[in-house]
Amino acid sequence: APERTLVLVKPDGVRRGLSGEILRRIEAKGYTLTAVELKNATPDVLAQHYAEHEGKPFYAPLVEFMLSGPVLAVVAEGQGVIAGFRSLAGATDPTAAAPGTIRGDLGRDWGLKVQQNLVHGSDSPESAEREIGLWFPQP
Ligand code: CMP
Repeated sequence: APERTLVLVKPDGVRRGLSGEILRRIEAKGYTLTAVELKNATPDVLAQHYAEHEGKPFYAPLVEFMLSGPVLAVVAEGQGVIAGFRSLAGATDPTAAAPGTIRGDLGRDWGLKVQQNLVHGSDSPESAEREIGLWFPQP
């Protein structure tokens, strides 16, 4: 099966009208979009999605931010897409993210408790399959 990753356009990206620009960059790189759905996150999905960050100082603000508006959940497919999307996204901190990346070109520090960094991308094949199952549950 081709490699897949879960991308989220976070509430800041949706609010700022950057969903199309972000999808454009994924497609322009040559990856295929196989699912795109605007969704409202729930506390339950976020607790599972961000389980590894539970207990960190930014955890509560992160969950609150992710509940502040709809997210665009996306499955992208292609050889090397997990690392490739993370490279497109740039560094977690939008101030440090290189120009040419989504966060470097479109993001900034807003002086908030949580980095509002526009996108999420899975970090391994195991996380990708787990996260795709969370955001696109099969009946
Ligand atoms: P993401 O890759 O979705 O995973 C965890 C998120 O927490 C991250 O993007 C940022 O939005 C946020 N985050 C990570 N590290 C920090 C930090 N040091 N301070 C504030 N927010 C952070």
